[in-house]
Amino acid sequence: DNPVLDKLLPKHKIKVLEKLSTKLPLKVTANLISDEGYWERCCRERWSICDTSEHGGSWKSLFFERHLENIIERFIPEATDPMQVANVIPFCQGYVKRLRINQLLPPVKEPSITNEEEGSDTGSDDGIDEPTLDHFDFGFITTRLSLLEELHVIYGVKGCGMNFEWNLFQFTKRDCVSLANAVKACKTLKVFRLQRSKVDDEKVRIIISSLLDHPSLVELDLSHNLIGDRGARAVGKLINRSKLEKVNLWDNKIRAPGAQAIAHALSRNDRLTSLNLRLNRIGDEGGEAVGNALLINSTLVDLHLGSNELTEPTALTLSQVLGLNRTIKRINLCCNRIGP
Ligand SMILES: *[C@@H]1O[C@H](CO)[C@@H](O)[C@H](O)[C@H]1NC(C)=O
Ligand SMILES: *[C@@H]1O[C@H](CO)[C@@H](O)[C@H](O)[C@H]1NC(C)=O
Ligand SMILES: *[C@@H]1O[C@H](CO)[C@@H](O)[C@H](O)[C@H]1NC(C)=O
Repeated sequence: DNPVLDKLLPKHKIKVLEKLSTKLPLKVTANLISDEGYWERCCRERWSICDTSEHGGSWKSLFFERHLENIIERFIPEATDPMQVANVIPFCQGYVKRLRINQLLPPVKEPSITNEEEGSDTGSDDGIDEPTLDHFDFGFITTRLSLLEELHVIYGVKGCGMNFEWNLFQFTKRDCVSLANAVKACKTLKVFRLQRSKVDDEKVRIIISSLLDHPSLVELDLSHNLIGDRGARAVGKLINRSKLEKVNLWDNKIRAPGAQAIAHALSRNDRLTSLNLRLNRIGDEGGEAVGNALLINSTLVDLHLGSNELTEPTALTLSQVLGLNRTIKRINLCCNRIGP
């Protein structure tokens, strides 16, 4: 209640900070102690690997970002008390800019009748059961974290081992809607990554419709999902109605029409610098469309078209682009068949 730390002589302050226990409650330390040495001790005691470069070079940010990530990654809907999250927000608020959520747990499910139907392992035709499998609602934190700039989310369970069930990897429609609203509400967000979450056309369209005209988003990463041509068209629309500079759609199901839609957006855009369409199925029709977009106009610096069944026609178009001395610096065409 009467903090005196800052009134001490520097040499005394150092001594106090060195002796201060890392077990003190965050309620006390969070807003009183800014000394990086203290937070470094807290981090090293808790995690064996710490890399501040992933946290804006700050130990204090590292501590609070990972602290909050750990709480969310262990949050079990309907079982964990939401106050557990609510209580730490006031301490984390000032120091959390990035959140990388590498797992989200589904609610604990009572064994139900559906389990006996062994035959169905697709996990997709049980639309009626879906609402019971909703995950943590990000709306709860994005409205409270006023500095949040990066959000990475994966709807799945890490290291489930022999307990594997498709249900552990289900991004439900309600998850999708609540995530879309959460991201929309977060006006400071610059980077949004939603990877490996079985995001399909319908879900990506829900998310994108809430990202249109977002005031600060510059990077969107939807790699390793199930996005097809309709989803790609939505991405094209977003490229036109946003400040996006980087788009990553690595490993989806985009074919020529989707690539053409993105190319169309690219040809009218002067912001996008990086586009990754690696491991899709755009084929030469798609490849040529992207090449032609670069011929018209572009600020693109980085282009990845690896593993897309591209052959000579695409290579020819791209060679024209290179002849024109555009801003493009890197083109990756690995795992295609462009021939000699
Ligand atoms: C969107 O498209 C319109 C024309 O179709 C163009 O004038 C505008 O600059 C585009 N905006 C972006 C951000 O690409
Ligand atoms: C294409 O680029 C030129 C200059 O590089 C610019 O003057 C022109 O407005 C651009 N066109 C479009 C459609 O962005
Ligand atoms: C290509 O771009 C470089 C750097 O911008 C410039 O020095 C060079 O003159 C350009 N060459 C042509 C043929 O436009």
